[in-house]
Amino acid sequence: MTALPTLTDGVIALRPWALDDAADLTREIQDADVVRWLNITLPYTTDDARLFIAAADERWQERGGAHFAITSPATGAFLGYLGALDAERRMSVVEIVYWVAAPARGNGVATAALKLVLPWIQEEIAPERIELGMVAGNDASARVAERNGFVLREIVPDAATLDGGAADERIYEFGLLTTDD
Ligand SMILES: CC(C)(COP(=O)(O)OP(=O)(O)OC[C@H]1O[C@@H](n2cnc3c(N)ncnc32)[C@H](O)[C@@H]1OP(=O)(O)O)[C@@H](O)C(=O)NCCC(=O)NCCS
Repeated sequence: MTALPTLTDGVIALRPWALDDAADLTREIQDADVVRWLNITLPYTTDDARLFIAAADERWQERGGAHFAITSPATGAFLGYLGALDAERRMSVVEIVYWVAAPARGNGVATAALKLVLPWIQEEIAPERIELGMVAGNDASARVAERNGFVLREIVPDAATLDGGAADERIYEFGLLTTDD
């Protein structure tokens, strides 16, 4: 199988992780909102980041998930993370996860990253479904999903963890027709 590509629209790039990203990953994944909405287990150390990065290529080769760093092609700045995860059967169902580094938020980075990756997933992986799960109340993430053609499919009560307690999970699906369509 081919290596993970670099995808770019000229403003942002999705590229394979490099070991040099370990410090950026370690710092930004510990941002309070990333920890809260993605239920990250702390502490998260540079060694955790290095292990994740070192395993990323093999994960993709085994169809166990595609993990991209989001960067600025102009400056090389680290902007965040987007993962196309193996939700079922070697990526027959893909779940997308993302976070944007706190200083880079509110500039359309997540919206652009999702827009870039969707055609690649369809062409390269061709899954039966592309899903995006989020904790109820994550309005910024819901906006990113809806702007990219995801539709709320179901709400699973108490399926997610938020601040140590149970919370509803909202499952979005790409390209799902609504009853009005
Ligand atoms: C969610 C997240 C990825 C969005 O990244 P981003 O690059 O700032 O997103 P964008 O700039 O592309 O778009 C955000 C959209 O949400 C809107 N938004 C931002 N904060 C919002 C809020 N609190 N309530 C409602 N909408 C909000 C913005 O106005 C924008 O919509 P618009 O383009 O129609 O104006 C980022 O906030 C983040 O990393 N949060 C923490 C981790 C997380 O929640 N990840 C998603 C888990 S499912």
